[in-house]
Amino acid sequence: MAEEKTTVDMDTIVSLCKRRGFIFQSSEIYGGVGGSWDYGPFGVELKRNIKDVWWRDVVHRRDDIVGLDAGILMHPKVWEASGHVESFTDPLVDCKNCKKRFRADHVQDGVCPECGGELTESRLFNLMLKTFLGPVEDDASLTYLRPETAQGMFVNFANVLEASRRKLPFGIAQIGKAFRNEITPRNFTFRTREFEQMEIEYFVKPGTDEEWHQRWVEERFDWYLRYGMRKEYLRLRQHEGDELAHYSKATYDIEYLFPFGWAELEGISNRTDFDLRQHALFSGRELTYFDEETGTHIVPYIIEPSGGIDRAALAFLVDAYREEKVRKRKRVVLQLHPDLAPVKVAVLPLLRNRPELVDLAKELASDLRMHVTTAYDDTASIGRLYRRQDEIGTPFCVTVDVDSLEDHAVTIRARDSMDQVRVPIPEVRQTLLDGLGRG
Ligand code: GAP
Repeated sequence: MAEEKTTVDMDTIVSLCKRRGFIFQSSEIYGGVGGSWDYGPFGVELKRNIKDVWWRDVVHRRDDIVGLDAGILMHPKVWEASGHVESFTDPLVDCKNCKKRFRADHVQDGVCPECGGELTESRLFNLMLKTFLGPVEDDASLTYLRPETAQGMFVNFANVLEASRRKLPFGIAQIGKAFRNEITPRNFTFRTREFEQMEIEYFVKPGTDEEWHQRWVEERFDWYLRYGMRKEYLRLRQHEGDELAHYSKATYDIEYLFPFGWAELEGISNRTDFDLRQHALFSGRELTYFDEETGTHIVPYIIEPSGGIDRAALAFLVDAYREEKVRKRKRVVLQLHPDLAPVKVAVLPLLRNRPELVDLAKELASDLRMHVTTAYDDTASIGRLYRRQDEIGTPFCVTVDVDSLEDHAVTIRARDSMDQVRVPIPEVRQTLLDGLGRG
């Protein structure tokens, strides 16, 4: 039986991510850039899988939510109406000695955490990243890279309602990039300046909002459990009065116990009718819903489950990480849910200098590749190949050995139990699909 170590420090995760090709520092050859990260071959698959299961669960498997892909660049008035120009700020302090800047709520005792120097009084700093549309850089062409995907869904409320003929309650879901000029990006990919969000804006009748809020809080909490996150590393936390955003009547955060402490994965807010009323006011357009039961036009309330894909990816990585002792040797394994694992199956020939084995293994890999993400690898000894696949969380390895040429069977090794079974080649595909929960 393997001994397990279930907690991991951030340095170990950062180094695994770099070594195995999950996440690299942005522009590393130029010394890196703060608050931006690049996802390597396995990181991009992990992120894509998170987005796919989210979209599958909230759009395809429900009939009350439709998707949207709005632009990152929007009319500058959007950000006035939303309150971002006025209120999307963090308090900032400067060090009078080393000139570094910090979020006022991240420093203690008015002293610079880097050099101990004296800090200035705090002042408000807007987190939106500015840009200019067109060739002239003046106030008239100023706009922002969106700091959240949400506003694209609010401004398209009437379009989606009209096109999809929905009745309340219904939702719009969107996945996309968002940008914030964070003063102190930190904790690897946890707080960055460029990130991806997965957001739902769920429109409900006023008066039913509190009940829907509770339902969405439960639904979203269960979603993280469904994909394998350990319950004891997840918790719900309700925002205190002064912590609430300007648009929110109530917010719950789903938090994960990262190596640096409890921190937000996703927020679920009751945004009331704030957004539709603001955009109606600023645009002059009517953003209402005709309620056939009462014969009146109403402004729906909005329940918003808003999660970060980068944060989810980091939490899934941290949560899946295990160090085990197997026959006195350390084994690192990512116990990722099969739906999230970047590679589902690896086909490995036991001997790479036997062309018949290599051919058979490659043939099997190309058949499996039509059904699931499959890797073929013959670049090291079988022990090292297993270790490599364990570290990226591949649920199954298929080994083709000399006997395979005679008995037309291969060995399937399960990642977590390390159990091995001999399976006739014609049954391999179905056995793997069953094991991956896709039978
Ligand atoms: N529309 C509401 C909204 O944007 P938020 O709590 O500011 O709410 C939602 O952001 C989610 O986006 C967070 O729970 C987090 O997962 C992610 N997120 C926010 N800022 C981030 C950042 N700087 N880096 C990475 N993810 C971030």
